[in-house]
Amino acid sequence: MTAPDKILQEVAALRREINYHNRLYYTLDSPEIPDADYDALFDRLTELEQVYDLVTPESPTRRVGSEPLVQFTQITHERPMLSLDKVFNEQDLQDFESRIKKRLGSEADLEYSCEPKVDGIAVSLLYVDGVLTRAATRGDGLTGEDITHNVRTIHSIPLRLDAQGVTGRIEVRGEIYLGKAGFEKLNNRAEREGGKVFVNPRNTAAGAVRQLDPRKAARIPLQMFCYSIGLVDGVEMPGRLGDVFELLEAWGLPVNPDRSARTGIDDCLDYCLDLLNKRNALNYEIDGAVIKVNDLSIQRELGQNARTPRWAMAYKFPAEEKSTQVLGVEFQVGRTGAITPVARLKPVFVGGVTVSNTTLHNMDEVERLGLRVGDSVIVRRAGDVIPKIIRVMAPEKNPAPGTIVMPSRCPACHSPVLKEGEVLYKCSGGLICPAQRKEAVKHFASRSALDIEGLGDKLVEIMVNRDLISTVADLYRLEVSQISALERMGPKSAQKLVAAIEKSKQVTLARFLYALGIREVGEATAQALANHYQALQNVIDASAADHEQIPDIGPVVASHIETFFRQEHNLSVINQLLRCGFVLEQRTSDEYSNSLAGQTFVLTGSLVQIPRKEVKARLQALGAKVAGSVSKNTSVVVAGPGAGSKRAKAEALGIKIIDEGEFIALIESLNH
Ligand code: IVH
Repeated sequence: MTAPDKILQEVAALRREINYHNRLYYTLDSPEIPDADYDALFDRLTELEQVYDLVTPESPTRRVGSEPLVQFTQITHERPMLSLDKVFNEQDLQDFESRIKKRLGSEADLEYSCEPKVDGIAVSLLYVDGVLTRAATRGDGLTGEDITHNVRTIHSIPLRLDAQGVTGRIEVRGEIYLGKAGFEKLNNRAEREGGKVFVNPRNTAAGAVRQLDPRKAARIPLQMFCYSIGLVDGVEMPGRLGDVFELLEAWGLPVNPDRSARTGIDDCLDYCLDLLNKRNALNYEIDGAVIKVNDLSIQRELGQNARTPRWAMAYKFPAEEKSTQVLGVEFQVGRTGAITPVARLKPVFVGGVTVSNTTLHNMDEVERLGLRVGDSVIVRRAGDVIPKIIRVMAPEKNPAPGTIVMPSRCPACHSPVLKEGEVLYKCSGGLICPAQRKEAVKHFASRSALDIEGLGDKLVEIMVNRDLISTVADLYRLEVSQISALERMGPKSAQKLVAAIEKSKQVTLARFLYALGIREVGEATAQALANHYQALQNVIDASAADHEQIPDIGPVVASHIETFFRQEHNLSVINQLLRCGFVLEQRTSDEYSNSLAGQTFVLTGSLVQIPRKEVKARLQALGAKVAGSVSKNTSVVVAGPGAGSKRAKAEALGIKIIDEGEFIALIESLNH
């Protein structure tokens, strides 16, 4: 049926509209219309195309072809696809800039495009007269494979550019990847349906891109970020990479929103550190940052080495997954008697730290992993998340596998181990168990609890082993002479410790409640109890039903609280503490939560002791604002190692700069 003009116009409008919503949905992750409305547009277009025979290959309805390929066609790249040189530290990045300046014979500041180094697969897209005609893998850089059928299934890649009048060939290059959310969804589905779980996003994406059957590729929610252009013969392109990105974006191509234009290498380093800090929060995996000279004519002037350009550099971040070996498994007894298997590992540098042991959580986890002593394993440490074993590799290669079994007696006090619930094993020794006592004291003295300076984990272990203390109340009866007799303690440090213990008697009710180590009562719950009851005796007298009246306290936690205060030995310890002269302040959170109100903080460089996101949360809890850049309105800049331009700007504006240690001292003083 020949289509009347009105229908042709409607079809064109529908395609434009669908492409527009695809972009909002798949690239920007912020849809404007409900899925059902989108489906209606799509169905209407499909119907019109069929009735009036208007199907064209670049229509958004034509993403998934139906016939699998028999084999891949080889594609020779018009221009080789290069790879990147890499550096791992600040100095080598500085040297990269020095080399460039030397070659250019100029000391002038250079502009750079800084981008995340996305962990995926490099591809080349060829648009001819605005229509996607071919997509290829990088291959060896000179020849790759034709993967057009699979790339067409990626919704964020336009089949036709939104670029009227653009003719000729435009080759766009970039990285195809699978986002963290997409990966998780796939694996959840695989687990539900008993399918094979995918190892990591990169491998999954690589597998999908190299499918012969596009229907299989279409099931993997791949995405792409464009990062450069290859051959262009029909249009004039802008002279700077940053402007090229804007043009590509205007044409409807996906470009990474986390890129940033910077001037001078210090500023680039700032970018790298900021990116590293937010690595975990990104919804795609990265293995570093890429720094590129922004000016394309300078890029040409600098040229390339054999396989890598002189105008770009990868700043690599520490790998988040490494392989190592399980040397043994120990069973640790926690504060509440719970026994946890902990794997001792051959030390391995992963995610920026050396890891030599890692919790296995419970025996179910051991079983799920199929773990045995001697196995080679993959350890993952991402951001500040605790390291974990995610997989056993080639279990058949373990020459003498050691089975991991829960002991029947507590390794610390030899009391019988009892099973509680589905996965929990507990030592039945209660307070006779030195391991439980040690953990209780360590928790009591810890930074978020009573914060007793100088009473570290090692010292607590020694004190319990020597029978110097048995409960936390015993701490308050310690004498200088007893402490100074311990190994590595002199009279001075002993005196200091006694003073710190004495000082800890002055504490808020919330911290005191937290310090008691009631099961599942964290800082927030302790604060809620303190706010609600105002006095310790009220908490002791209350019932589980009373606790449940407090928002966020559920029946399980409420019953743990009640049980704790019904136990004779707990009440006895509390009474001893009160008799020693504890003064519990009734201050609620509101009274100090605004002590930084009106102040604006800027964080720069790397923070080592407290994760950036926690620093931010703490500042906000105290009423402060946290800003991304320094201005005359900034009150304080917290600068860690590697701080660059922000620090310099703060210095120029005469704004107070403190380091991480000073910052911790500041918030601690406000929290007491
Ligand atoms: S530019 C000549 N930019 O890293 C420049 N590459 O080791 C070539 N990659 O093969 C690449 N994110 O697959 C560039 N923003 C980015 C990138 C990026 C990831 C990959 C790419 C390349 C590899 C280089």
